[in-house]
Amino acid sequence: MRGMIFELKMFCRSFFPFCVYIVKVWKKKEENKAAWRIFSLKELHAATNNFNYDNKLGEGGFGSVYWGQLWDGSQIAVKRLKVWSDKAELEFVVEIEVLARIRHKNLLTLRGYCAEGQERLIVYDFMSNSSLLSHLHGQHSAECLIDWKRRMNIAIGSAEAIVYLHNHATPHIIHRDIKTSNVLLDSDFQAKVADFGFAKFIPDGATHVTTRVKGTLGYLAPEYAMLGKASESCDVYSYGILLLEIASGRRALQKLNLTSNRSITDWALPLAREGNFRELADPKLNGNFVKDELKRLIVVALVCAQKKPERRPTMLEVVELLKGEAKDKLANLENKLFKSWRSADDKDEIREDKADSISEKKDDTPKPESKVAETVQEDKDVDSKSEFKVAESISEEKDDTPKLEYKISDSGSESAQER
Ligand SMILES: Nc1ncnc2c1ncn2[C@@H]1O[C@H](COP(=O)(O)OP(=O)(O)OP(=O)(O)O)[C@@H](O)[C@H]1O
Ligand SMILES: [Mg+2]
Repeated sequence: MRGMIFELKMFCRSFFPFCVYIVKVWKKKEENKAAWRIFSLKELHAATNNFNYDNKLGEGGFGSVYWGQLWDGSQIAVKRLKVWSDKAELEFVVEIEVLARIRHKNLLTLRGYCAEGQERLIVYDFMSNSSLLSHLHGQHSAECLIDWKRRMNIAIGSAEAIVYLHNHATPHIIHRDIKTSNVLLDSDFQAKVADFGFAKFIPDGATHVTTRVKGTLGYLAPEYAMLGKASESCDVYSYGILLLEIASGRRALQKLNLTSNRSITDWALPLAREGNFRELADPKLNGNFVKDELKRLIVVALVCAQKKPERRPTMLEVVELLKGEAKDKLANLENKLFKSWRSADDKDEIREDKADSISEKKDDTPKPESKVAETVQEDKDVDSKSEFKVAESISEEKDDTPKLEYKISDSGSESAQER
């Protein structure tokens, strides 16, 4: 009997590593199956009917996006760089480098890229239901295809994608351009977060990087727009704005007249404070929404889009809150949110924020050690193996004051991009 047990033990010992090996090989095979590849320009010309105008899906700051079909019948979206420049090249390389490292059900999958001469093209999975922007404010908005259930699903799916970037990618990634045109929808209306051209890697142990400001007006967290402090919390702010758009069907910035805009938070906060959630709901929903979920979504949105970054939740908490798994936490946050608005009038809030920004600006003298450890300046955020990153760090060192140049993009959203 003892002999048998011994033999069984020996068998398990030798069999276990073999099983582990088989699983590893199988996993690698699966990963390789999903991996991206390099496309030739010829292949992409053939797939898109020579970048025919009829194949054009849209246009953004980087260039035009075309629908295409590969020889195996699979559908792709090809983003083609408009005009070559160092800056565009950087955006191209960052997008490839980030997308090639990550894989999540709610992130757009990279199929590959093409770099021939001055042509730069990025190939993605084709998303047949276009962008969230097109359903909320654009060409599909009249069709009312995103009912309340789909909206909740899109909200949670996009949040999970950002949780992945902030917590599970190595190194951690901040997106820096979360907005409705960068949330694409597949054939089942599942959210796929896209566009990593402005993304930043956050080294281990760091809480933020100081950088020049990139992103889109209406979605920029105040501390980032004013001081160039990019952190996970900036994505939380932008996500809050996106949530408000999902709930209300309104744009991040509403034009009041020729010279002034009103932010969606300035419109939503007073209504939410009065408990007027029905008024906040997108009229296109015709009252067809789950009341509790609408309220939850709006409260989470407003908590995310608070001016002070330390008051915003993490994306992990956001997912919990949206799923209704942290009711007490939500009630607590809601109390704090509305209490701070009841106790301090708007003037105080503004004064407080100004004081903050002044103390931050003065803070260019050596910082206490713990702070230095947390702050990663761009010149340290360099992977010496990666040429494009070195180039970026040099250009960022030249000018460390955040500069904004505003442009109106095709989608009608204003973008702030660095120059
Ligand atoms: N993978 C895709 N599948 C289907 N449509 C896509 C895909 N990628 C992009 N598009 C379409 O192309 C449009 C343009 O995308 P692009 O990312 O270039 O610009 P944008 O997001 O509108 O603006 P910005 O340049 O400020 O990011 C999108 O709004 C979307 O409708
Ligand atoms: Mg985009």
